Amino acid sequence: MEETIYRGLDGVNVDTSEICFIDGEKGELIYRGYDIGELTEATYEEVVYLLWEGELPTRAQLDAFRATIAEDFAIPDAVVDLMRRLPHDAAPMHALRTAVSALAAFDPDPDGVGLENVRRIGTALLAQVPVLVGTLQRVRTGVDPVAPRADLSIAGNFLYTLTGEEPTEAATRVMDTALVLHAEHGSNASTFAARSTASTLTDVYSAITAGIASLKGPLHGGANTGVMKALEQIGSVENVENYVLETLAKPNGRVMGFGHRVYKVRDPRAFILERVAKQLAEESGEAKWFEMSLEMERVMDREMAKKGREVKPNVDFFSASVYRMLGFPADMYTPIFAVARISGWMAHLFEQYADNRLVRPRMVYEGPRGKTFTPIDERG
Ligand SMILES: CC(C)(COP(=O)(O)OP(=O)(O)OC[C@H]1O[C@@H](n2cnc3c(N)ncnc32)[C@H](O)[C@@H]1OP(=O)(O)O)[C@@H](O)C(=O)NCCC(=O)NCCS
Repeated sequence: MEETIYRGLDGVNVDTSEICFIDGEKGELIYRGYDIGELTEATYEEVVYLLWEGELPTRAQLDAFRATIAEDFAIPDAVVDLMRRLPHDAAPMHALRTAVSALAAFDPDPDGVGLENVRRIGTALLAQVPVLVGTLQRVRTGVDPVAPRADLSIAGNFLYTLTGEEPTEAATRVMDTALVLHAEHGSNASTFAARSTASTLTDVYSAITAGIASLKGPLHGGANTGVMKALEQIGSVENVENYVLETLAKPNGRVMGFGHRVYKVRDPRAFILERVAKQLAEESGEAKWFEMSLEMERVMDREMAKKGREVKPNVDFFSASVYRMLGFPADMYTPIFAVARISGWMAHLFEQYADNRLVRPRMVYEGPRGKTFTPIDERG
């Protein structure tokens, strides 16, 4: 019998969801009915509330949500110690994945998958992961951690625990926008990994650790670090063309930050991040990264047009120069993506645990059959 194979689950619907809609032909991204462009007006906490509750909060609901988050910012000293003891040159995504997994050991009820407990853990992770990432950057550079502050937002505490300085309103606003844009994106690889993991009714920490593990790859969240490393290697606008041509000439050569499984046009998040990058470039006087990015898009457009293709910038492309202009090192960009995506992963875990079905696809077997066993000493 001829079996249909959907490699990479391309185009396969695995379930229904009420969280996110993407129109890849039109370049539309919608969270719970709101276009992503509208939501950049909101704070990250408002958008998390929207993703989790289905509606934007009232002022009173937002204040109550912020108060619950504020109780959870602190991370166990033992987890800080754990991060300190890891080799300081270890890639931050390895350290983050390990630290998030370790948090389960300090939770009074890590395994309960009832919705109230899942919600409790989700709120704790929403607060703790930004602090973990900020703290990780300090301890791996040999600087003492600073305690998070209950009066700061999630974006504010991320910046504060990373730099140890009171974050400016402008930097907090840019971080909020970046977190909103990276919060959710339907059934992408890491969200699917988190949902598949949860579908065995294992715990939230395991599911989120699986999400982080999947996000790390260069074809997914790892691409933003890849973009920055490429820009650093290229070094100037004049060198961009050669870099793109050389990369495309390699077998399976991929220019990081371009292309998408769902979007056939420019990712709507790239338009917003381009505006942010342009503004930061003007304000910081560090226009080089932004100018190199524009040149990269120009050369990619031209080269892809020769093949009759449109391979456009995705969310990772301009986020790289934005993070660079905020002063973050390139290998921290994917952990920052994880800080934001916690909210989307959790929204999906709420749906998954509320109405679970074990994820268990099949493979079409193409290996040999009918072999007979030979004892080891008789094998030639
Ligand atoms: C994201 C990605 C994996 C989606 O890929 P996909 O749906 O599997 O599409 P494919 O990889 O099959 O690409 C389709 C065509 O576009 C080309 N293409 C896609 N992305 C490309 C890129 N970044 N650089 C160069 N060519 C690219 C491929 O070469 C392929 O052409 P071919 O059929 O002539 O070989 C892919 O675009 C990619 O590797 N991008 C770089 C990594 C990245 O930025 N990831 C972040 C995603 S948010």
